[in-house]
Amino acid sequence: MTGNEIRELFLKYFEDHGHTRVRSSPLLPANDPTLLFTNAGMNQFKDVFLGLDKREYVRAASSQKCIRAGGKHNDLDEVGKTARHHTFFEMLGNFSFGDYFKKEAIALAWDLLLNVYKLPLNRLWFSVYTDDDDAARLWEEIGAPRERILRFGEKDNFWQMGDTGPCGPCSEVHYYMGEDPDDPTKNRADLVNGPGDDTMEIWNLVFMQFERSLNDAGEIVQTSLPKPSVDTGLGLERLAVVLQGVKSNYDTDLIRPIVEY
Ligand code: SER
Repeated sequence: MTGNEIRELFLKYFEDHGHTRVRSSPLLPANDPTLLFTNAGMNQFKDVFLGLDKREYVRAASSQKCIRAGGKHNDLDEVGKTARHHTFFEMLGNFSFGDYFKKEAIALAWDLLLNVYKLPLNRLWFSVYTDDDDAARLWEEIGAPRERILRFGEKDNFWQMGDTGPCGPCSEVHYYMGEDPDDPTKNRADLVNGPGDDTMEIWNLVFMQFERSLNDAGEIVQTSLPKPSVDTGLGLERLAVVLQGVKSNYDTDLIRPIVEY
């Protein structure tokens, strides 16, 4: 499946599930002094999550051009060290603005990965925020083996756009690319958020619940958002690695022609 087909399948799937297809916003964010470059699909919806802006839809899907070369989410330091980081990439995302929350976000992700892209379950791992028993239960109820559901803290499973802005606990799907996925000595839990490229994060589901902002004393304070929402990000080039059976993002049809050129 080509990168273009993977992107189209994602957008079409979410359109079929009531989402409005939204164009990627420019790489230079409009009216947001907290960001130099667009770093996630949710940037253009920041004010919608905060309840300051309204759209004529409550579900959206996009393929967002992102640059992560500085700031809170900086991939620049990883370029050349891993097979999965490059500072410019496309993030496929589905968004709920006060509409569905954890249960449907998890069900949609599960259905798309397992039934549409047909990823093998024995290569998938699921992570949830330390105390997010709901997310852990929902993954298990839908079919994830309990031992494949791991818990991580703020560093890996709490997402924030920058030091301030909308944020919340998140749940990720990771994919094991190595040999013998049924061999527990090879396909191991410690590779999730661990060393090497054998297991990589492919999709992050953020359960947007809070806003972090600066108070008058210059301290960061956290308040609840008007409505719990969903922001997800699935790496297009990483999914292409998986579906094209290559080992590096640079070997996908999305990047290899540029390298050759
Ligand atoms: N905003 C989250 C991320 O960038 C999910 O889209 O990972």
